[in-house]
Amino acid sequence: MLRALPVVLALGFVLIGRVNSHQESGEWSCESGSEIRLEAQFRPGLVTLDGHADDWEGIYGSEFSLLPALDPDDDDEYKAGKMTVKTVHDGRDVFFLLQVDGEYKYSKGENNKCPSVALMFQVGEHATYHNMGGCEEEADSCTNKTCKGHEVDIMHFSIGNAIPGRLYGGNPIDNRDGNGGDRFGHLVDVYAWNPHCRHLDGIGPSGNDSSAQNDWKGAWWHSSFDVHSGFVEQDSPYASGNPKGTYYFEFSRPLRTTDRLQQDAQFTIGGSSKMAVAFWYPVDGKPWHGSGHYSINCDWVPMDISSGSSVLSQSSTSSSGSTAGIFALLLSVVSLCSSVFVGYRVLKPKGVPFTPMENL
Ligand SMILES: *[C@@H]1O[C@H](CO)[C@@H](O)[C@H](O)[C@H]1NC(C)=O
Ligand SMILES: *[C@@H]1O[C@H](CO)[C@@H](O)[C@H](O)[C@H]1NC(C)=O
Repeated sequence: MLRALPVVLALGFVLIGRVNSHQESGEWSCESGSEIRLEAQFRPGLVTLDGHADDWEGIYGSEFSLLPALDPDDDDEYKAGKMTVKTVHDGRDVFFLLQVDGEYKYSKGENNKCPSVALMFQVGEHATYHNMGGCEEEADSCTNKTCKGHEVDIMHFSIGNAIPGRLYGGNPIDNRDGNGGDRFGHLVDVYAWNPHCRHLDGIGPSGNDSSAQNDWKGAWWHSSFDVHSGFVEQDSPYASGNPKGTYYFEFSRPLRTTDRLQQDAQFTIGGSSKMAVAFWYPVDGKPWHGSGHYSINCDWVPMDISSGSSVLSQSSTSSSGSTAGIFALLLSVVSLCSSVFVGYRVLKPKGVPFTPMENL
């Protein structure tokens, strides 16, 4: 409970800060709360990547207002609710859950009549949140040389062709082509230097590199669905009408990837990364356009990847209970070993060489 306090304060701070972040004079300004942080705790064996959020229940989440990314005006906040972001890692993969209320909207094959989400991470040291990396080159002049240092890594999931509860993202067919595409569900692995210079991993203005991969996987779900055991495409439109409910988007990616081109963020246990979350929604049924997205903050949100030991040092009842259990088990193993050893010392005849049992 105490852990919630700084974040609540931080959120309050952000809400105040955002009032000042209009793009009134054409100059971008953002006063983001400096205390705002996400933490990916080490929780191995907890999350199944299926779009369902039950397994995340014990994980602490941060709540964010969704304001228009290009002009974060409180009056234009996404009205149906705030977005909760949760993240954990298991030592190999990092997992994200985005949870946001919204009437069920789905139009098969039409991505911009369905909700959509993206995650963005800083890769290059100079990459800013604003302007997706902030390289100042034009679309025809940005290259990995002219925009060096401004790389951001983006995962974008457009669900128009993605069946709820099914896994999308990296797949053998697109990965064989050596790029970040996903022809099945449009959960793509992208990098950018600015909004006009965005490419699938492996594809670039100065040539393609077939060593790239789509390293992301993800699934989505809406709480109005009552079938829990596997939709197929023929089940479209999955739910009738536009019932109210909650959308869940769940993603994972290995902490490290084989990227050699500065197109993937690399996560370090015990380290910190900078991320952003975007959300598109067909407000009033109107299809969204690319720049018409909401964002959880007007700057990067730091994300800490905790090392395993920090979980044990936390004294929540459940984890201290299991820690005590592990300690008791350890003690009993130690005492069993020592009694076997003592027994061996007592029974061992001095100076007698080892004799096989059958010769006794
Ligand atoms: C730029 O990308 C091309 C094609 O992928 C690659 O051959 C080249 O080494 C890259 N240059 C730099 C400076 O990263
Ligand atoms: C790189 O790949 C893209 C998409 O497959 C293709 O359109 C483009 O022609 C390729 N560029 C080069 C230099 O091969």
